[in-house]
Amino acid sequence: MRILVSDIHKKDKNKKMNATQLIHSVPVDELTGAISVPIYQASTFVQEAPGINKGYDYARTNNPTREALEKIIAGMEGGATGIAFGSGLAAIDAVIKLLKSGDEIIAVDDIYGGAYRLFTHIFAKFGIAVNYVDTTNPENVFNAITLKTKLIWIETPTNPTLKISDIEAIARIPGQDDCLLCVDNTFASPVLQQPLLHGADIVMHSATKYLGGHSDSIAGLIVTKTEELGDKIKFIQNASGAILSPFDSWLIIRGIETLPLRMKQHSLNARIVAQFLDEHPDVAKVFYPGLPSHTNHEIAKKQSSGYGGIVSFILKDDNETAAIKFATSTKYFKLAESLGGVKSLCAHPATMTHKSIPEEIRRASGVADSLIRLSVGLEEVEDLIKDLDQALEKVKFKNLAHVS
Ligand SMILES: Cc1ncc(COP(=O)(O)O)c(C=O)c1O
Repeated sequence: MRILVSDIHKKDKNKKMNATQLIHSVPVDELTGAISVPIYQASTFVQEAPGINKGYDYARTNNPTREALEKIIAGMEGGATGIAFGSGLAAIDAVIKLLKSGDEIIAVDDIYGGAYRLFTHIFAKFGIAVNYVDTTNPENVFNAITLKTKLIWIETPTNPTLKISDIEAIARIPGQDDCLLCVDNTFASPVLQQPLLHGADIVMHSATKYLGGHSDSIAGLIVTKTEELGDKIKFIQNASGAILSPFDSWLIIRGIETLPLRMKQHSLNARIVAQFLDEHPDVAKVFYPGLPSHTNHEIAKKQSSGYGGIVSFILKDDNETAAIKFATSTKYFKLAESLGGVKSLCAHPATMTHKSIPEEIRRASGVADSLIRLSVGLEEVEDLIKDLDQALEKVKFKNLAHVS
């Protein structure tokens, strides 16, 4: 039996969903009245006659639990079609498969390391070239566009230096009718920023992060502006097979229900943490779009309704040893890959998330040797500040003098 999926696309597309609309866009099960979306753990669906069915035939193509999530995320982003993948990278992979050999991509220089690896080590082999530019200045994008450019890929904010690109300004760059703009919206989430409303064609999420919110699932999401584009990506997904399981779809739906509340608190805690670090004598530089000193603060203010929960910083003692000492000295900020969960995490991108990027390219894009990325969680912010303070005390130059 099909579950009732309310037609959330009928809402005013230029308006952001509020918490009430979001919570009630999660459908009630038509068959049983279950308030939580049922997990349809089925691989196939019985047909009355070949091709005559209740809307589902084989779960790689479609599954009711996954479909519920896809409609919810499409509504949140104000798009036409949502598509749920087995990981954020699987979602990126599907977008790149829209291109063909000889096409070119312009991508933000401070790109997530896994996307860089996918572009460089997989798609380059198939003749798709990537030109990395600093997209915080739309002029750089304009100057890099060639007739072969078929995709502009930006993250905003970026991982991990929190660079902000002006989505609207890039979408308006002339002469790119057949060139798609895709925004990785993982750091902001649709609660803070909706790229399609600023002119993007595709929005992508590592739902592993804020959408899931509890560090318990790997998932990726795509939302397209048009149904036509959505159909193309759905075709690619069905052909390649990187779908999200019913259980993981359910976990992401459950995470989404508290997303507005969580993003509010993540943003509040992160702002306090960023201010603390900004004033700390052992910190050389803080990256947080909510700080007025952030280079792209004004754009962030214009295109998002908050600044999120990620704060990065560089130590005065800018070297790997000091960074690793810091990252292994925190109590509440657990040293781990990933971000966006309720528990605070810290990471050292140079040796973790960004280790697949060559050193010179990494440094040139702002990811210094001692850069630490914090995912500020939902703990009491006073406890988080104390934790950072004691870990910074341990990396003071005098305290590291014995380390070779
Ligand atoms: C900004 C960004 N995009 C994409 C990804 C890839 O997502 P996943 O790990 O879910 O494959 C990540 C993962 O860290 C990310 O931070």
